[in-house]
Amino acid sequence: MTRTLEAISKHMGALSEIKSQTMKAIRIHRYGGPEVLRYEDAPRPKPQAGEVLVRVHAAGVNPIDWKVREGDMKDFWSHKFPLILGWDLSGVVEQLGKGVSRFKIGDEVYSLPDPTRNGAYADYIVVREPELALKPNSLHHIRAAAVPLAALTAWQSLFDTAQLQPGQRVLIHAGSGGVGHFAVQLAKWKGAYVFATASTKNQDLLRELGVDNAIDYTQQRFVDVARNIDIVLDTIGGETQERSWSVLKKDGVLVSLVQPPSEEKAEELGVRAAFVAGHPDGAQLAEIAKIVDSGKLAPVIDRILPLSEVRRAHELSKSGHTHGKIVLRISNGNGTTERKQP
Ligand SMILES: NC(=O)c1ccc[n+]([C@@H]2O[C@H](COP(=O)([O-])OP(=O)(O)OC[C@H]3O[C@@H](n4cnc5c(N)ncnc54)[C@H](OP(=O)(O)O)[C@@H]3O)[C@@H](O)[C@H]2O)c1
Repeated sequence: MTRTLEAISKHMGALSEIKSQTMKAIRIHRYGGPEVLRYEDAPRPKPQAGEVLVRVHAAGVNPIDWKVREGDMKDFWSHKFPLILGWDLSGVVEQLGKGVSRFKIGDEVYSLPDPTRNGAYADYIVVREPELALKPNSLHHIRAAAVPLAALTAWQSLFDTAQLQPGQRVLIHAGSGGVGHFAVQLAKWKGAYVFATASTKNQDLLRELGVDNAIDYTQQRFVDVARNIDIVLDTIGGETQERSWSVLKKDGVLVSLVQPPSEEKAEELGVRAAFVAGHPDGAQLAEIAKIVDSGKLAPVIDRILPLSEVRRAHELSKSGHTHGKIVLRISNGNGTTERKQP
């Protein structure tokens, strides 16, 4: 009898050891359509020196997620399979690697982690300390997870690259989108006069976000409305980028997130052109958290989906017509995780 109990207890111990070494994650084993997204067991990552293990509560969805899934980024980033997608998260610090000094276990954090490594569609993620910040106090995890990638991209475009000054005139294409809705609010926070484009259904949203001159691109040509612009933020590319040159004033700047603008054209017109690739920055995220907590910046959520609906989340994001952000709920807040196959 005692031997049987010992055997059971050993077995249970082994099971719990295995459980603590694995986690649930959405991974891809090859590039492809939404069908390559697989909900499965994956090794639970361990934080190395300078890294933090975070229990993920929610993950923001961005176009980069389905672009990576489809293989669009394979010439730029050498991802290894199986790969966990999703580079936007909010969660709780679970374990610290050696030398981590700015965070402690239990801290509520948010991050845009390095997109060349495994992402946040998982129970746990390891993030480098400089890529993390305490999440805004005023947001719960679902809303906090909507912020990092899009808000950092808007911040780095408007402030680091374009050097936006109070009083300048800014045109933001797709002001209702993930990046655009943060860009509008950040430009207003800095004291700019903001033009922004979206379709008819998103005109009220643009005005609620603080846009001074909302342009319905289905009814009006933006070139007829926006003139003498200091900064254009191009989130669309193609014809929209091409037509944007004509609205810039001399010494203005065209910043694109989707397609490097022509240097020759910029020189010819006496303006500046830049392509921005948003990057992780915990210090900037800490600044952004302060602005959120001051009430001057807020994420707009298009919808919250369970992790089990990740395929739908990708299809919606790829439609190019969601407003604000889609967020995946990963932990239900009491320590258990969504556990349905997508
Ligand atoms: N380089 C970087 O670091 C970086 C970082 C983030 C994102 N990006 C890229 O930037 C792009 C935008 O990202 P996102 O997350 O903001 O996308 P998103 O949230 O999917 O953008 C959707 C928004 O775009 C609007 N839209 C669609 N067509 C439009 C048009 N012709 N004119 C004006 N608005 C239009 C839609 O409004 P309506 O429904 O009203 O049309 C919708 O609200 C993506 O290609 C993404 O990959 C690049």
